[in-house]
Amino acid sequence: MALGRLPAHQTPAPLTSGGRGSEAVPAVTATDSRLLLSSIVHDFNNLLTPIVTILEELQARHVGTSRQLKKIDGAIYCAFCAKVLARQLLDFVNPRPVSLEPVQIRQLLEPLETALVSTLSPDIRLKLDIAEELPPAFIDRQLVERALLNLVLNARDAMPEGGDLTITAALEFPPASHPGGPERMIRLSVADCGLGMDDQTLKMAGQPNFSTRTNGTGLGLATVKQLMESLGGGLSITSAPRRGTTIDLWMPALLAGFAD
Ligand SMILES: Nc1ncnc2c1ncn2[C@@H]1O[C@H](COP(=O)(O)OP(=O)(O)OP(=O)(O)O)[C@@H](O)[C@H]1O
Ligand SMILES: [Mg+2]
Repeated sequence: MALGRLPAHQTPAPLTSGGRGSEAVPAVTATDSRLLLSSIVHDFNNLLTPIVTILEELQARHVGTSRQLKKIDGAIYCAFCAKVLARQLLDFVNPRPVSLEPVQIRQLLEPLETALVSTLSPDIRLKLDIAEELPPAFIDRQLVERALLNLVLNARDAMPEGGDLTITAALEFPPASHPGGPERMIRLSVADCGLGMDDQTLKMAGQPNFSTRTNGTGLGLATVKQLMESLGGGLSITSAPRRGTTIDLWMPALLAGFAD
């Protein structure tokens, strides 16, 4: 069967009340449309899961020529972006309460490493650099995972020729602009050696809907910023054209009983 064409018995029904002539159509309430949007995004996300799994399997088995493998790599990346977008839409429609708990950064990053690597092209090397003595962060694990995935996808976009991508975790004082007190925080940084940003882009990055990419929604950094703020943390960016970009995520640390 040709891709993109369904047999007649599988043709999806239109999502309207079409064909009912002049029958009155009940007004769609805001709750109905939120529910409908949630269920569409949910199903869309479910459909993406086997796509990612199958593509990852093909990639792991090195099926095909190097040109075909490059295409598989691009398809995995697009599927991951679609998953992130689906998650962002779901949270937008149905915000979930923030659930804070102590999390060791090493235990957050190491299990994530494989998933992050699978979103990167083979010419990008991911390195983890986690300080030995680090107090637990007081965070919502899921939110920080999502923030990291967004940053890693941005770094990939900025490194068309590959290079090193480093995720660093350390305990440091946040920049003076951070509204919290003078407490040290966990700094989780994603540093790439890619295209970097000019002054204008640096000023605008993180504003909702600002994007310099052809297919970008400009929701990524704005979401990350909002996620970090919901944890009592923040985000700072250092970047220069052709010098790469470092994005620091600042998050509260559980310092009680921690001696350095
Ligand atoms: N690591 C980076 N290196 C260079 N520029 C970046 C980097 N991260 C973000 N930017 C700049 O900031 C802009 C906004 O990023 P953001 O993640 O919000 O949106 P996007 O990546 O363009 O689209 P999407 O909504 O799909 O994530 C990007 O379009 C790009 O110009
Ligand atoms: Mg992005």
